[in-house]
Amino acid sequence: MNDSERIDTRIDAGFGEDLDRAGGQAETIGNEETMPKDDTLATWAPASWRDRPAQHIPRDYPDLEKLGAVESQLATYPPLVFAGEARTLMARLGEVAQGKAFLLQGGDCAESFKEFHPNNIRDTFRLMLQMAVALTFAGRKPVVKVGRIAGQFAKPRSSPTETVAGVTLPSYRGDNINGMEFSAEARTPDPQRLMQAYMQSAATLNLLRAFAQGGYASLGNIHRWMLGFVDRSPAGERYRALASRITDAMEFMAACGITPESTPGLNSTDFYTSHEALLLGYEQAMTREDSTRPGEFYDTSAHMLWIGDRTRQLDHAHVEFCRGIRNPIGMKCGPSLEPDDMMRLIDALNPHDTPGRLTLIARFGADKVAAGLPKLVRRVQSEGRTVVWSSDPMHGNTEKAGNSGYKTRPFERILAEVGQFIDIVDAEGAHPGGVHLEMTGQNVTECTGGAEKISAADLSDRYHTHCDPRLNNEQALELAFLIAEKLAGAKT
Ligand code: PEP
Ligand code: CO
Repeated sequence: MNDSERIDTRIDAGFGEDLDRAGGQAETIGNEETMPKDDTLATWAPASWRDRPAQHIPRDYPDLEKLGAVESQLATYPPLVFAGEARTLMARLGEVAQGKAFLLQGGDCAESFKEFHPNNIRDTFRLMLQMAVALTFAGRKPVVKVGRIAGQFAKPRSSPTETVAGVTLPSYRGDNINGMEFSAEARTPDPQRLMQAYMQSAATLNLLRAFAQGGYASLGNIHRWMLGFVDRSPAGERYRALASRITDAMEFMAACGITPESTPGLNSTDFYTSHEALLLGYEQAMTREDSTRPGEFYDTSAHMLWIGDRTRQLDHAHVEFCRGIRNPIGMKCGPSLEPDDMMRLIDALNPHDTPGRLTLIARFGADKVAAGLPKLVRRVQSEGRTVVWSSDPMHGNTEKAGNSGYKTRPFERILAEVGQFIDIVDAEGAHPGGVHLEMTGQNVTECTGGAEKISAADLSDRYHTHCDPRLNNEQALELAFLIAEKLAGAKT
């Protein structure tokens, strides 16, 4: 299917100069020229990925014309983010690459239609704020907050089919593709789900923007961000103590005339969205040309997109698509990635070495990171390239819990991987710039361990994930404190 004509990519990502200014973007560093004009993109178009081999994009829609019609319709819908915001995030990530800020990226493994609720959005947002407080205080660096949210639906699966009691059906692939229920009907891909995912993403982003800008995120509310768990858990206790210290500092500053009212930076926060750029038909439909900079395309489905560990083949569709969009891009780096291939991918995705353009997200597993990561960091350093190094300590540490059938991740292994990541990147003279976590503001029981000592037998209590096991609110905050301590001891 070639949709290049059907998708109208001229619909604007930048909204013209005036509107761009009206959006408050023109004055920010994000609208500075952050990426040069790119002649390597002469052959690129939003649809050029369609001529490449593609893994993990479903083709078993019963009616491909219907899928095309939905994608065409989405191409006429409003963008979810502005080009200027993506440029601002790129500039922030450029600071992370230089060791001047820290990246906190986190959220659900997979968002779902079922768990779509304002309280869930609020709890994830609030947890990110709490973790950012812990990380900022220890590291004395601003924290760039990027949610895996408002678009994180599609999943690559290890097997295309699932067999239960002798019945084999297509695997669940994310709520924007098919349903989780184990029935032939639910597992059949339905293009209408793309519409629902778009609408849910728009509503989620709307609430996040309100939380970030509307006063909720004011540091003056730091005590009010406490979830119920903060009263009970050891991490919560540490958070409360920290919040009190920050409140003291703020009272001192207020006495000096610096208040959230007088200093807008204290009254609001920046919060960005991201998801895996897996379902490229949807991503293409959301890709728009920036009318203020003709020839520049942004994927307006999120501020940042990343390429998964299973879809980062150099000459395949996902790399082709991502190399042409001007958003900040992440790329997962697992044990199979060798330095030569990594360099070719860096050349394709960030040919002009723009700071903040490329985040390499190491996801090896606590038992493999020491063997796999140092050679990658060393090579990037010796080639003089600029990347953000981030650690995903989730995807290499998944295991089956006993014979319960539950997938889990032991907290100790997650912590061990981040700890080694910081040491390795630091030892190579680069900056351990961020973490990428699967987590929720809900009190689920999906990962074992942590201060609450969740055991394999506890997992069935509140196991709600639609895909991989997430850190719960206490575990995530505890991890943030432990990472903060570790970072405080690192050179960078
Ligand atoms: C993910 O982040 O949900 C994911 C599938 O990760 P990876 O590509 O690293 O396996
Ligand atoms: Co996952």
